[in-house]
Amino acid sequence: MEGFKASPAWISLMQHRRVLSGLSLAQLFERDPHRFQRFSVSDDDLLLDYSKNRLTGETVELLVELAREADVEGWREALFKGEPVNGTEQRPALHTALRQPPEEAPRPGGEDVGAAVADCLQRMETISERVRGGGYLSDGEVRDVVSIGIGGSDLGPRLVVDALSDLVDDGGPEVHFVANLDGVELTRALRHCDPRTTLFVVVSKSFGTLETRVNAEQAMAWLKQAGLSDTQVRERVIAVTARPDRVNDLGLDGERVLPLWDWVGGRYSMWSAVGLPIALAFGMAVFRELLEGARHMDLHFREAPPERNMPMLMALLGIWYNNAFGIPSRAVVPYTDRLRLLPNYLQQLEMESNGKRVTRDGREVDYQTAPAVWGQTGTNAQHAFFQTLHQGTHMVPVDFIGVAEDVGGGRGDASQLTANMLAQSRALMLGRDEAGIRAVMDAEGLDADRAEALLPHRLCPGGRPSNTLLLRSLTPRSLGRLLALYEHRTFVQGVVWRINPFDQWGVELGKQLAGEVFDVLRGDAAATDLDASTRGMLGQLTAWGSE
Ligand code: F6P
Repeated sequence: MEGFKASPAWISLMQHRRVLSGLSLAQLFERDPHRFQRFSVSDDDLLLDYSKNRLTGETVELLVELAREADVEGWREALFKGEPVNGTEQRPALHTALRQPPEEAPRPGGEDVGAAVADCLQRMETISERVRGGGYLSDGEVRDVVSIGIGGSDLGPRLVVDALSDLVDDGGPEVHFVANLDGVELTRALRHCDPRTTLFVVVSKSFGTLETRVNAEQAMAWLKQAGLSDTQVRERVIAVTARPDRVNDLGLDGERVLPLWDWVGGRYSMWSAVGLPIALAFGMAVFRELLEGARHMDLHFREAPPERNMPMLMALLGIWYNNAFGIPSRAVVPYTDRLRLLPNYLQQLEMESNGKRVTRDGREVDYQTAPAVWGQTGTNAQHAFFQTLHQGTHMVPVDFIGVAEDVGGGRGDASQLTANMLAQSRALMLGRDEAGIRAVMDAEGLDADRAEALLPHRLCPGGRPSNTLLLRSLTPRSLGRLLALYEHRTFVQGVVWRINPFDQWGVELGKQLAGEVFDVLRGDAAATDLDASTRGMLGQLTAWGSE
């Protein structure tokens, strides 16, 4: 298989780009009255419109060829079949098995993955029913759940609970999330909680993560300080981990430990017991609907031809802008507060997966990989960074995400919201040229000198690309589908860039150095080996600490 830049499809794409650059997006629409039909895909209640991108039918063909040359279809099969697609850690990445019927799940190395997942889901169901039914604790009901975890052990469940709260019939405990080490999140969460009616879920695949250990210790201390006995404390803590051997260090009860497995990556793990906070908040039926939605997307990804395959198309378009146009970032703008945490979630999913500088076989890449992902909700973002999107010097492709049905309980104005979203993608695409601006200024009655002076300031170049994902409604199912879509998009990009999206060695260095600096701060080690900058700041910290 050829490398990424040497691939014939890539070479053709670069030539094609030069031809295409003479055409504006508006001209592409004028030339092809069926552009929307040609460049949109719908699957059940989800529509992807990618027609407002710098592409023609030939671009799509070449991008699909690029995927073919990278053997995306072969890697996709390897992913679903449980082959060791995570080469550096020599293991499969079987998040799709978490939402697959057990009898269909692969058996890597003979392991009965389907049975393990089914058993775990059953245990989650038992726990969530008992918690929600008031029978979990021997001495009262659970009114609050505090989920403690970070990164992949936090972002997915946090997003889902935030998105669906008050939308699906919850009737369960209030669920809070705590990740940061500074104690602020924990203090804020505990402010609402009574130790007697609070259950902690400590989620950590490794059970060695500093932030989670510190927050879990603090949480247990809070329970003890309230006068609860050791038995009462143990009853109020559930652990989710792939390292049950480490749970005992915290004095947690081994029976209240739900499993995770090496073959599930942290940022792909919300479909496992990592999602227990979701089941506690809304019930297991909702959690299973979320899994069904993701499963639906798995089937679409596995079966739809590349030209109709949403994750593939979105991945390839991302590569088109990142590598052919050299655009180092992309914005995600969901038009509902319910999806306000999506940009954070995608930052980890995409940037921890594909922020890599060597290929699967260890050679340094000579092209850019994961662009920065950022964003926030519309319409708020329109009053923040949209100025840059419209007139800034950087071109930033945007993923707009809209929900057709009202998600605000009748309080907001769903049509205004949708109108704004559609108008923004249109404005980015069309811009406003000189004639258009002159007409506006004429109508405003501006005199000729003033109009001339303002002209360059008011010009909007247009030609700025976007995708729009339209969900008919926001449900556990549609949310599951959306998140799985982005998972597969990330995977396809990793394959085309010839990198491993399932490891994250880079984060280890920072963790190790934090340990060394901590030892110096505590006075257990000398600062002599540290660089001058770090030594200087440690000196200042020590001086402030002793004042
Ligand atoms: O940030 C690094 C990381 O290892 C992520 O990959 C992971 O999701 C997170 O830390 C939490 O890890 P754990 O679940 O082991 O506590």
